[in-house]
Amino acid sequence: MIMKGSECKVGAADCGWNRIWSGRDSRLGSVDMGDPEAVFMELKRMAGYDAHELDYKAMRAYHDSIYRAMGSPRSVYEVGCGCGANLYLMQRDGVRVGGIDYSPAMVETARRVLGPGVRELACGEARDMPTDIRYDAVLSNSVFAYFPSLDYAGAVLDKMALKADTAVIVDVHDAGMREEYLDMRRGMIPGYDEKYAGLNKLFIPRSFFEDWAEMSGFSARFERPSVEGYWNAPYVYTAVLVREGGRRA
Ligand SMILES: C[S@@+](CC[C@H](N)C(=O)[O-])C[C@H]1O[C@@H](n2cnc3c(N)ncnc32)[C@H](O)[C@@H]1O
Repeated sequence: MIMKGSECKVGAADCGWNRIWSGRDSRLGSVDMGDPEAVFMELKRMAGYDAHELDYKAMRAYHDSIYRAMGSPRSVYEVGCGCGANLYLMQRDGVRVGGIDYSPAMVETARRVLGPGVRELACGEARDMPTDIRYDAVLSNSVFAYFPSLDYAGAVLDKMALKADTAVIVDVHDAGMREEYLDMRRGMIPGYDEKYAGLNKLFIPRSFFEDWAEMSGFSARFERPSVEGYWNAPYVYTAVLVREGGRRA
């Protein structure tokens, strides 16, 4: 279900994660809106990148590498755009942007920072993204790990393929590194298992994207994150899916 206002109802993906993302607070009120670095870092904090110290230079370098992986597009739609951190930087660089996220608090903040120039912005489940407006590329950054199942992830990929000929999925939790990731989190957060009870992450093997790509007429390749000091880097990968033979008829 898609809602354009501040209310947002979710269906199949309504799980503990949705409550977490809907409860994130914005501190933009205390940020100098004329300082893009400070705005971007606050948007990333609100989107959950606050487990460790990460500096702007490293985050910006990661952002630029993701933009290049998308083929330096002129228009980008982001699935699970959060409060618009990635779209904010791209819009400032002249890219036409749109997005969807199921957290009303996140979408409200995204609306504020992206302003009237945003092409489309909806509050709703990734699986229900509207497909009428097409883009050069569709991005999903640190979102697939919160999906309830591989079936759900496959349904989202099918929709992404209707939005653009290039789909880039960043920070996919590597199924082969599941135990190592959980050990790292347990070491980092005291009482991790109790705190995160019922908040499962989806771990995805690369073969899931390869199989989807083969069935859907896309090529699949994988990259590792190149960001200094990013605690998730050893446990995640980026999937780059490009339609074979160019544009969809
Ligand atoms: C870690 S944040 C990343 C936000 C943004 N992509 C970024 O890189 O700054 C994850 C986001 O995914 C959104 N999300 C998770 N599952 C979703 C779903 N099924 N449908 C729509 N949004 C979802 C959350 O609300 C949250 O904003």
